[in-house]
Amino acid sequence: MKTKALINRLSDGAVHSGASLAVELGVSRTAVWKQVHRAQEKGYPIETLRGQGYRLTESVDLLDAERIRSRLDKALVERLDLVVLETVDSTNAEIVRRRSRPQDGCHSMMVCLADAQTAGRGRRGKVWQSPPGENLYLSFGLTLPGGFSALDGLSLVVGSAVAEALEALGVEDIQLKWPNDIMHKGSKLAGILIELQGELEGAAQVVAGIGLNVHMQHAAGVDQPWTSLARIAGGGHEWRRNNIAVHLVAAVVAAVDRFSESGFADFQPQWQSRDLFFGEELKAVQGELKGIGCGIDASGNYLIQTINGIETIRAGEISMRVVT
Ligand code: BTN
Repeated sequence: MKTKALINRLSDGAVHSGASLAVELGVSRTAVWKQVHRAQEKGYPIETLRGQGYRLTESVDLLDAERIRSRLDKALVERLDLVVLETVDSTNAEIVRRRSRPQDGCHSMMVCLADAQTAGRGRRGKVWQSPPGENLYLSFGLTLPGGFSALDGLSLVVGSAVAEALEALGVEDIQLKWPNDIMHKGSKLAGILIELQGELEGAAQVVAGIGLNVHMQHAAGVDQPWTSLARIAGGGHEWRRNNIAVHLVAAVVAAVDRFSESGFADFQPQWQSRDLFFGEELKAVQGELKGIGCGIDASGNYLIQTINGIETIRAGEISMRVVT
């Protein structure tokens, strides 16, 4: 029995006896008891009421592939191979594994979401905090024409799509921090990790992963200011991860389609309008470069006005690494 089946049964907030759960889930009462313990250990707020049964003390926002599919455009669903996993090491790694199995969805775009990641990866080898039930962790397996050299700007395209999806959900003041971060009032709300998988007949196989903080209120060991949708809304909104996932998937696929057809130049104005660095005094993290942020060029490279003139920083050099 999966935790998800149990949580679904308890999601009405009522008390369910062990006996009734055993019948509904087609397992023994001992199996129910064990599953309740496992779910409690994972952090699900299940209360045990002696002699009565079990109940959820808070509503749990479960991810559900069927719900996501049912709210996406039918034509889009047909193009996707969308899976929701309970736990995985990394949704980016899972896409790589699934794509290397020849029978798996070779003509569709793979989308993998997970409720929790045990080895969520961030940029530059950092860990991406991925507690269960809290946030969105999703990855897309993309095949883009033109090989690796045509990928400059992809992370900015995905960033723009995430920003637009969030704005459509009513989140204001979203800014983009070149090249990969989605920010809200100076704190990081989401990050993007683009990993290259391989080149096949002139097309690049890429994994684009997005981590978006949704319900998270506490996180140990994060070395930069961060926020979440729950923090931004301050309890004034009940976020539903399935609904957010629908908006993200639709926006990312539409943006990637446009990027495949016309390249990055089209996205320059929309990315630029949310540029966190524009007009700011900047210093490159590695190296001695100092200057004022001037926005991006038509390929997505960042421009800095230095004392020696305009310097260009390539997106590809900084934001991408090859999957090993
Ligand atoms: C960053 O460092 O800002 C990038 C974070 C990317 C995290 C996401 S969560 C889904 C996908 N799977 C991973 O292991 N990483 C990305």
